[in-house]
Amino acid sequence: MSAVPTVGPPLWLLAEVTYRCPLHCVFCYNPIDLADTGRADELSTADWLRVLREARALGAVQCGFSGGEPLMREDLEDLIAEARRLGYYTNLLTSGVGLSPERAASLKAAGLDHVQLSFQDSTRELNDFLSHTKTFQLKQGVGELIKSHGWPMVMNVVIHRLNIDHIDRIIAMADALGAEYLELANSQYYSWAHLNRDHLLPTSEQIRRAEAVTDAWREKVADRMKLFFVAPDYHEGQPKKCMNGWGNVFLTVTPDGTALPCHTAKMLPGLAFPNVRDHDVRHIWHDSEGFNRYRGTGWMKGACATCPDQQKDLGGCRCQAFLLTGDPAATDPVCPKSERHGIVQAAVAAADAGEVPTRPLVFRDPKSSRLLTHPGAGPRTS
Ligand code: FES
Repeated sequence: MSAVPTVGPPLWLLAEVTYRCPLHCVFCYNPIDLADTGRADELSTADWLRVLREARALGAVQCGFSGGEPLMREDLEDLIAEARRLGYYTNLLTSGVGLSPERAASLKAAGLDHVQLSFQDSTRELNDFLSHTKTFQLKQGVGELIKSHGWPMVMNVVIHRLNIDHIDRIIAMADALGAEYLELANSQYYSWAHLNRDHLLPTSEQIRRAEAVTDAWREKVADRMKLFFVAPDYHEGQPKKCMNGWGNVFLTVTPDGTALPCHTAKMLPGLAFPNVRDHDVRHIWHDSEGFNRYRGTGWMKGACATCPDQQKDLGGCRCQAFLLTGDPAATDPVCPKSERHGIVQAAVAAADAGEVPTRPLVFRDPKSSRLLTHPGAGPRTS
């Protein structure tokens, strides 16, 4: 089979319109250096409108507006209206903070198709602790608002060691709110979640129990709610076909205009990613080095190079390979064929043994971002 991939269109455009966010989630996938991209660095409305047009001309059909919290952008309605006019199916990925009745009405008028509301837990205490905010009650109201506007009710809960034992109550809460889709997404360990991994990685027994509880609910609510349990690859020993393949269908544009094949790729060393301020989307998608480097299978080495499953998983996740081995071209260590698989086994064994790190959880906020990104600058008080 040829190692040179046929490049189709970027079907999915993820517009990360801002890193500003009222929440401070410990599992956030936004980059650790997010504080380096302030409001002044964000793309203008005109830039975003151009990106929407260029990506649509290339064949993009779905557009997700994400962040940070996308509702922090006052021009969100303008972006959604243009996306809708261009023929995208539009999604808003939100914490719900800022989704007032007035804002919901204006988003509806702009043509927004779909809202995905995130919760951190089924209890006020843990929801508010994990996001370092008091938002649980507000989210309940937002759930009702979403229903009242006739949007499909789609909930997303990131699952990890601290909330996985609440899965029964989380599903019950989603059912009570009238959710039609509930994604129980086991945390992927990048960025802030990677920093906090040894607090967040569930035990194997917790995963088994959670899957059994989810299966039981699946039967019970089959007529009204679809449940998706996204299994954690650390425990599965099965590399995921990350982003459905590098530069295959996903195009992420970050708040400052950097174009990426996935939301965390900017940290990968030795790769320059283009900016939509400098290049049009067609060039970025087809011709840039950043989007071509890990396309297909030609870049593979080690266990991946001769693996009969290489088309199935495309070598797993490049970001995870880099975070765990320092080499973005390595076989993803979650794969049992990786010579570094022991790293993942050791992490799961530590979780199973109940080990808890002495370092406290790090919350995603600008202050921590600055301290982690520029440690030489010394601590700041604000
Ligand atoms: Fe970047 Fe998987 S998250 S390649």
